[in-house]
Amino acid sequence: MTTGHWLLYGAYGFTGKLLAREAIRRGHRPVLAGRSAQKLVPLAQRLELNYVALDLQDEDKLAKTVADFDLVFHAAGPFVHTSRPMVQACLAGKTHYLDITGEVTVFEANLTYDRQAQQQGMAIISGVGFDVVPTNCLATYVANQVTKPTELKIGVVALAGTSAGTTKSMLEHVSGGILTRRNGQLVSHPVGRFPQRVRFVDGERTVYPVTWGDVTTAYQSTSVENITAYLAYPPLMASVIRWIGPLSMRLFSSKIVRQAAQKLVEKIIHGPPEHTRHTARCQLWAWVANESGDEAEAWLETPEAYHYTALAGVRCVEKTLELQPQGTLTPAQAFGSEFILDIPGTRRFDQLPWTSLSNKSALDESADSLT
Ligand SMILES: NC(=O)c1ccc[n+]([C@@H]2O[C@H](COP(=O)([O-])OP(=O)(O)OC[C@H]3O[C@@H](n4cnc5c(N)ncnc54)[C@H](OP(=O)(O)O)[C@@H]3O)[C@@H](O)[C@H]2O)c1
Repeated sequence: MTTGHWLLYGAYGFTGKLLAREAIRRGHRPVLAGRSAQKLVPLAQRLELNYVALDLQDEDKLAKTVADFDLVFHAAGPFVHTSRPMVQACLAGKTHYLDITGEVTVFEANLTYDRQAQQQGMAIISGVGFDVVPTNCLATYVANQVTKPTELKIGVVALAGTSAGTTKSMLEHVSGGILTRRNGQLVSHPVGRFPQRVRFVDGERTVYPVTWGDVTTAYQSTSVENITAYLAYPPLMASVIRWIGPLSMRLFSSKIVRQAAQKLVEKIIHGPPEHTRHTARCQLWAWVANESGDEAEAWLETPEAYHYTALAGVRCVEKTLELQPQGTLTPAQAFGSEFILDIPGTRRFDQLPWTSLSNKSALDESADSLT
């Protein structure tokens, strides 16, 4: 296993701390980083790791610091505000860049650096957490089973709760509506519309379209031109989303409302507790079809999303240092779709263990359709 010399930026955030602990457990000694020395020092002392306080606005210090490392793992979000300066510093320093964004605008922006990354001999791999490692690998796996697939659907059940950082990142993008891909283009739909019934390994659920990184990453790795991602919500939240979805798009287009909501989120949302992180499971499903009517589908069961992000994130560091990929890549492009099975606690199914019925019948029951 390659451990290398790497920097973990955003180390004292909820997910940053999980990544730091998993890194140590796997024998790594990452240098911890973040913009606040006050928050970094106690963590670095507790974990007995070196640290560097680094503001993303300080371009010179950022570039000089980053150039000394083999790889930067960026865990500070919302990434719409933090990704660009770090990617540019990594390009200048020929340092691999990994992040855990789930934000479509960031995946899209990083695609524009592909050529430069290849010239510099480094990789830009966004989404090395729960969003999008399992979905990207599963989508690639099913897409490879059908000739010229034209439609891809992805379903996710992750009901153990979110961190403040994830919720704040989601609020940044609510006003843009739900993004899907149609004929190769990103298309926006109102929030809370077009529910579907989907069968997962642990049962059947109603899911709603969601803006998931795969509308870009699955397109990049499979070339399927029509992609919709779906998420299951707890029943109460599903009702709220149905009723106030379209209104929330207007509401959160105001920066003042967004910032007030984000301040509230920081106070009341603390992320899933340790016991939940170690016991909850997530369910995933991917389905493809082509114009001849051929279909393929598969399912995954994984550990809880934040625990998964720590497990997958550190393994992505190891794989990057071992394989030395180049360019802007998705996790499945960089490491292969079978990489998913390297993550502990992950099981993939080609058939539902409890039925041999096709998921298509469940999908056909849906009254609405996005197509
Ligand atoms: N892909 C996935 O599956 C996945 C999984 C988990 C998390 N995430 C994403 O990762 C991000 C962090 O999540 P979290 O749970 O760790 O949230 P969190 O606990 O709120 O931590 C956010 C971190 O980002 C830092 N940060 C925010 N804005 C910054 C800026 N402008 N400059 C420098 N540092 C900045 C914060 O530092 P300060 O305290 O100094 O502000 C803090 O260290 C979110 O965007 C979340 O959506 C993705």
